[in-house]
Amino acid sequence: MPIRFSVYIAASLDGYIARADGDIRWLTEIPAPPDEDFGYHDFFESVDTLVLGRGTFETVVGFGAWPYEGKRVVVLSRTLHPGSLPSEVASRVEVHHGPVQNLAAILEASGAGHVYVDGGLTIQAFLAEGLIDTLIVTRIPLLIGSGIPLFGDPGRDIRLRHVETRSYLNGFVQSRYEIQR
Ligand SMILES: NC(=O)c1ccc[n+]([C@@H]2O[C@H](COP(=O)([O-])OP(=O)(O)OC[C@H]3O[C@@H](n4cnc5c(N)ncnc54)[C@H](OP(=O)(O)O)[C@@H]3O)[C@@H](O)[C@H]2O)c1
Repeated sequence: MPIRFSVYIAASLDGYIARADGDIRWLTEIPAPPDEDFGYHDFFESVDTLVLGRGTFETVVGFGAWPYEGKRVVVLSRTLHPGSLPSEVASRVEVHHGPVQNLAAILEASGAGHVYVDGGLTIQAFLAEGLIDTLIVTRIPLLIGSGIPLFGDPGRDIRLRHVETRSYLNGFVQSRYEIQR
């Protein structure tokens, strides 16, 4: 099976994944319907590797408990060095300085099968290089006006194939798209 790269992310209806200061509490302010995880568990079980942008990595480290036990995790950063990683996660992640085409080739050569790409700028870099196969975006019914955007300008049009859209009782709307590489 060829390597696949997927995005699974939540965004405000106006396209932001966090407030400008990184605040993501608004993502969980609207309660989920009982026993609903929006497909996250099944998606997460399907990936063997995560690529996190440094911004997202720092958010996750702030959670305290490491949520990616058992998965290979690569942090994408031009500024982080393995020696400067917090000690509690240093043995759990690898740091890659990019470019993302090199990282994708390294992951493929080392046997990765399904990669979860996370973080706004990181997703944008993978999209710009035509490296994303599947995009799952959950729209939160909230306009936050400004913040860290999910998408940027890839410098060209990117055509997506809509696969399905599900709406949930709490107003979340999740769409799945495939992108021909
Ligand atoms: N709504 C959600 O579901 C969701 C999901 C994930 C994250 N978030 C939030 O989004 C925010 C982070 O987003 P973000 O846009 O800052 O993106 P990010 O991709 O998490 O982090 C950006 C950093 O990643 C590194 N990077 C990105 N592209 C690179 C490339 N091509 N080559 C080398 N390094 C690269 C750079 O690190 P250096 O500056 O170190 O070089 C860059 O500053 C956080 O607040 C996080 O909590 C929300």
